[in-house]
Amino acid sequence: KSFQLMADLIKLEVFVAPHQAIEPEIAEKLCEMHGFVFEREKREKGGGVHKEKKKVKEPKAVEHEPEEKLEYRAPIITFMGHVDHGKTSLLDYVRKSRVTKGEAGGITQHIGAYHVDHHGHPISFIDTPGHSIFTEMRARGADVTDIVVLVIAADDGIMPQTKEAIEHAKKSEKTIIVAINKCDMPGADPMRVKTQLMEHGLQPVDFGGETECVEVSAVTGQGMEDLLELMALQAEVLELKANPRANARAAVIEASVQPGKGPTATVIVRAGTLKTGMPFICGPYAGKVKSMFNDLGEPVKEAGPAIPVEVIGFAELPHVGDELVQMKTEKASKKLSEERLQAKRNDRLQRPKMSRMEDLMSMV
Ligand code: GTP
Ligand code: MG
Repeated sequence: KSFQLMADLIKLEVFVAPHQAIEPEIAEKLCEMHGFVFEREKREKGGGVHKEKKKVKEPKAVEHEPEEKLEYRAPIITFMGHVDHGKTSLLDYVRKSRVTKGEAGGITQHIGAYHVDHHGHPISFIDTPGHSIFTEMRARGADVTDIVVLVIAADDGIMPQTKEAIEHAKKSEKTIIVAINKCDMPGADPMRVKTQLMEHGLQPVDFGGETECVEVSAVTGQGMEDLLELMALQAEVLELKANPRANARAAVIEASVQPGKGPTATVIVRAGTLKTGMPFICGPYAGKVKSMFNDLGEPVKEAGPAIPVEVIGFAELPHVGDELVQMKTEKASKKLSEERLQAKRNDRLQRPKMSRMEDLMSMV
């Protein structure tokens, strides 16, 4: 029964409505739970009955940029960790110490990504919520991430979402820096956190391992300079580069409908340079950059690699994790949008099989 399937999905931390599609990998797990064997249906090549129209060329991937066109870019550092362990507070501290008094009003602005300059080293940050419902979002957020800062409260230690963040970071082979936060608290026990880290396969440098751990406090500022230094150092090791003149691509890390602005998204540029007036495709929807705002809420005309910006000009609300890709013309972006929407509709046509499976299940 569908409610049973939904309950099983919640155990897998997947939250869906009754008629929503799920990923094949999830479907496979679900089948296993009920003793079914999951088989992928092979699609016919050539589109079956549909007569093929000439397709719009899909923009090429970031990875294909020639080496000589690449330039150094800022690292993208994502703060992850359990609820209330202090991710946002640590980021606010970093920002406040970098923003001059005149701009202080900008701090209340809350887009989930910031760009700061640390002694001539630019660094971009992404904040993530700790609640487990955001698992998928975090998993996607980790994709643009170069370095994960794992925030662990020294008085609380490793908690469920800390473990999850460790799993993601390990799976995606990201560099991990551990920020042991709230060291100002009376109950703070950084040693216990380090011991716990060992149990989760992260060996602190103090114990002869490779995981850098810094004891910090977002309240007193203790250890913050060390943390920033470490981030800059790890970033240097990674030699991160992108081509600022490539076809622009950006990852959506937040999306919402804003009064007076319509659907907006915080994106972080992966390659090329986003400019106002640029036509783009994002997921299945066409759009055009109407205006952009930086992390201080100031309007900007351009945003290069690793820079987070709020973009206005989406036809529809994009999804977190979607990629915004520059298109040559508005016409091309609209055509590609039609194609992608058609592909989605075709996909949906195949979905009634799901309800047939529901019928089957209800007969069991
Ligand atoms: P979510 O976004 O909900 O996952 O939480 P978060 O990890 O962003 O935590 P947040 O920064 O909102 O901090 C949670 C609470 O802990 C707030 O009340 C902060 O004031 C407090 N806090 C954060 N860092 C410190 C710290 O270093 N010391 C002390 N004493 N309190 C802190
Ligand atoms: Mg937060």
